Amino acid sequence: SMADLAGMVRGNLRLAVTTTAKYFAPHLLGVFSRRFPGVEIRLEVSNRENVLDRLASNEDELAIMGRVPQGMSVTGTAFTENPLVVVAPAEHPLAGERDIAPERLAEESFLVREAGSGTRLAMEQYFAEHGLSLKGGMELGSNETIKQAVMAGLGLSVLSLHTLPIERSMGRLVILDVAGFPLKRHWYAVHLKEKKLSVVARTFLDFLTEEGGALVEQVASGNGISQNDV
Ligand code: PGA
Repeated sequence: SMADLAGMVRGNLRLAVTTTAKYFAPHLLGVFSRRFPGVEIRLEVSNRENVLDRLASNEDELAIMGRVPQGMSVTGTAFTENPLVVVAPAEHPLAGERDIAPERLAEESFLVREAGSGTRLAMEQYFAEHGLSLKGGMELGSNETIKQAVMAGLGLSVLSLHTLPIERSMGRLVILDVAGFPLKRHWYAVHLKEKKLSVVARTFLDFLTEEGGALVEQVASGNGISQNDV
């Protein structure tokens, strides 16, 4: 039976995810480990730069991140979308406005993630492509702190939609309708090209490509995943 086959997949899964993926990764692992109880999982959470270092030194077999690194011999498999959005406090004057011009953003302070963050890179790229200079906002070391700072009225920010299900459902943060947003990115499972994946890692990669998209969607929508989903 399926259950017997699943029971035969045994071993360790060493996985690293960027901080922005930590919002959905535990939910994926919950479904996976209920289905494959013989797999022992170790999850590392860090920013893009650190996740890449760990991958290069073979500390993890698989990584989940927002972009496949260039100049490194890796294989990346996109398994779902990662929309980046402009977040504002609910009472912000631009909340509810339609089709806001990118130039309008130059008048706002933007809070940025730490150097090494993939989210920060994407945000800087957007501003550069539109010839907009970032009005010197504060630099804050995590998605959590940025969300708190946006709620505190310290500025706007660009974050992955996947970091926001709780604050959106509570009505504490809103997404601004800015032309060109959401920035369309993806989540990738990445591993070293020369590395032969273990049966466990291969099983997890197959699981991600077959079911990851729907599960991430479910978490991002604020619905969560039932313990009975296996
Ligand atoms: P990060 O995640 O901003 O935490 O690095 C996003 C990414 O992997 O690009």
